[in-house]
Amino acid sequence: MTNEARLSDVSKVIRKKKKSFRKSSGKGKPSLPSPSLTAASFPLQRLYLSCLDVFKGVGTVPSSTDVQKVCRILDGMKAEDVGLSRNLPFFKTPSTAGVTPKVSCTTINKSEKFWLCIFFLPANAVIPLHNHPGMTVFNKLLLGKVHIKAYDLVNASNEIDSISPSKPKLACKKADGVFTAPCDTSVLYPTSGGNIHAFKAITPCAILDVVGPPYSKEDGRDCSYYRDIPYDALPYEQGVMSEEERERYWWLEEIDVPKESEMRGIQYTGPQIIEI
Ligand SMILES: [Fe+2]
Repeated sequence: MTNEARLSDVSKVIRKKKKSFRKSSGKGKPSLPSPSLTAASFPLQRLYLSCLDVFKGVGTVPSSTDVQKVCRILDGMKAEDVGLSRNLPFFKTPSTAGVTPKVSCTTINKSEKFWLCIFFLPANAVIPLHNHPGMTVFNKLLLGKVHIKAYDLVNASNEIDSISPSKPKLACKKADGVFTAPCDTSVLYPTSGGNIHAFKAITPCAILDVVGPPYSKEDGRDCSYYRDIPYDALPYEQGVMSEEERERYWWLEEIDVPKESEMRGIQYTGPQIIEI
């Protein structure tokens, strides 16, 4: 069944539910649609249906056609599609000097194959440098301004890790810049596209993430944290490098779970997905 046909089915379900809602509100009373079943649900529903097609489970990476499909949907999504607005008090709260505020996270939908969630970063909040083992991740900045730094390991097969897991790993910088909403979706893959990344909010931000498969400690997809060290600061040599290359290459040293990585879980209150 195509996604258009599935959406049409969902639309029928919504009309049916609205009808039964009107009936149950009683005669003479104003007929209000259920807040979770409005037309605003559609971009999110479309995203969910695409994820069902695109994420095929552990050990798989979506094809480039499938990645483009998800990107097209996410590129067109607005904060309102997940029940947010720049007028919410959260997005108007200025930063407090000397304070690193906590990040909040809300899950929209989660299955074995993918996880749809939103991260809320108050101004100055950070998500420390972390990885996404075996995952493909779509990041869509819905609101705000954020600094993103991203790396890929040079030897992503990690053969060396089993011999000396604590040794810093050579990584290549893939991104280091400020992103302001609305902007296009960025995608990272298991071994490319900046799989290890960090965020620092310049203004309050909301970032919609599509992650497939989700983190799972039991299945060996736990999150690891790192600190980045300039290439020249360590005595390890990796062959002759030009000046330019030395600026692109960094060492990533695994660290204990940092305090700033603690997140507050909050309930999702935006438009609901109808699971099929
Ligand atoms: Fe991440």
